[in-house]
Amino acid sequence: MTHHPVTTALAVLSALVACGPAIGDEPVGSLAKAFAGKYRIGVAISTGLVTNPRPAADALIRHQFNSATPENLLKWENVHPDKDRYDFGPADRFVAFGKENDLFLVGHTLVWHSQTPAWVFESAPGVPATREQLLTTMRDHIYNVAGRYAGQIGGWDVVNEALNDDGTLRDSPWRRIIGDDYLEFAFKYAQEADPAAELYYNDYSMHLAAKRDGAVRLVDKLKQAGCRVDAIGMQSHYGMGHPQASEVEASIEALAEAAGKVAITELDINVLPWPSNIAGADVGQSAAASPRLNPYRDGLPAAKQAELAERYAMFFRLYNHHADVIDRVTFWGLDDGRSWHNGWPVRGRTAHSLLFDRSLAPKPAFDAVLRTATETP
Ligand code: G3I
Repeated sequence: MTHHPVTTALAVLSALVACGPAIGDEPVGSLAKAFAGKYRIGVAISTGLVTNPRPAADALIRHQFNSATPENLLKWENVHPDKDRYDFGPADRFVAFGKENDLFLVGHTLVWHSQTPAWVFESAPGVPATREQLLTTMRDHIYNVAGRYAGQIGGWDVVNEALNDDGTLRDSPWRRIIGDDYLEFAFKYAQEADPAAELYYNDYSMHLAAKRDGAVRLVDKLKQAGCRVDAIGMQSHYGMGHPQASEVEASIEALAEAAGKVAITELDINVLPWPSNIAGADVGQSAAASPRLNPYRDGLPAAKQAELAERYAMFFRLYNHHADVIDRVTFWGLDDGRSWHNGWPVRGRTAHSLLFDRSLAPKPAFDAVLRTATETP
């Protein structure tokens, strides 16, 4: 994304006076317009918003965002639940919604160790597939899914979360059955299925130096094998006390050096207490519920709203400083009520991780983020 000072200023001005949904008699600014000269602003869309549209939510998405990622509906278990059965219904509606609203669509995700049915890795129930069989299964899936949306989905999380926090390759069934080169096949099949789509490697905890270095090695290896990698996705599932801006900045610089571009793909900031046994964003982890871990059931106190606002603003100042290598910042959910943090790593909590509250009203963090667009870097 190029950013010209005049373009940026005009975009920001129009954003700040945009006649979008009003709160009281104040028109609410638009994130997408405010940052138009810097990077796209995206949102993860839950399946319910696609299959059971809400006019107020649709209006908020149209006004605030220019990119969208399906939170779950394009994961293997949902779009290809059985070997000979695809369910493209929700994904077709997601793509149609994106086209109607001129959104840059991101496909999430083609190859992942999680939310992938057991049959994918088997030649018969309980019998592991061979390398050749699994490569055929991977290729058919990618051709059928990415091929179906060729020219409509602008970029794909081709492989998601292939690394351990120490930078080594995760011991997934993909790796065990095919070998370390499964990533190369995934990227080559995706490029063959839709040559126009951008291709991403996506992972969490990419602020960790060892994981960041592992991602750099992984992308270098993919490029040496002739694969195209257009950006590295930093999921960016953060807490109030971690990570430090300096860790994130070091990774933005290193990952952009390796891939040319970085995308902030799943941004949220969890204000809830962090169970002692949990780190990162591995969906396979969980922790027992307790009142201590769910302190804001009745709402987020003003002081905490202010802390969250400042923390979001800090990260957006960092993103603005590196807008030349950041393509997109996507929030992992439209509003607090739809945040995955209501159910992970502890089920049944009341999360406050995003910029819009459960009534879709902007929080202080929204205003703080919007203001960074007009700050001199
Ligand atoms: O839709 C069913 C519902 O019918 C059923 O009653 C319910 C029973 O628990 O499950 C519902 O599906 C859940 C789905 O979210 C929709 O809410 C799945 O169990 C649950 O596993 C799924 O969690 C998703 C998680 O990935 C695992 O796929 C989260 O919504 C989603 O936010 C999260 O997103 C991941 C990214 O894909 C990758 N990066 C990390 C990120 C956070 O874990």
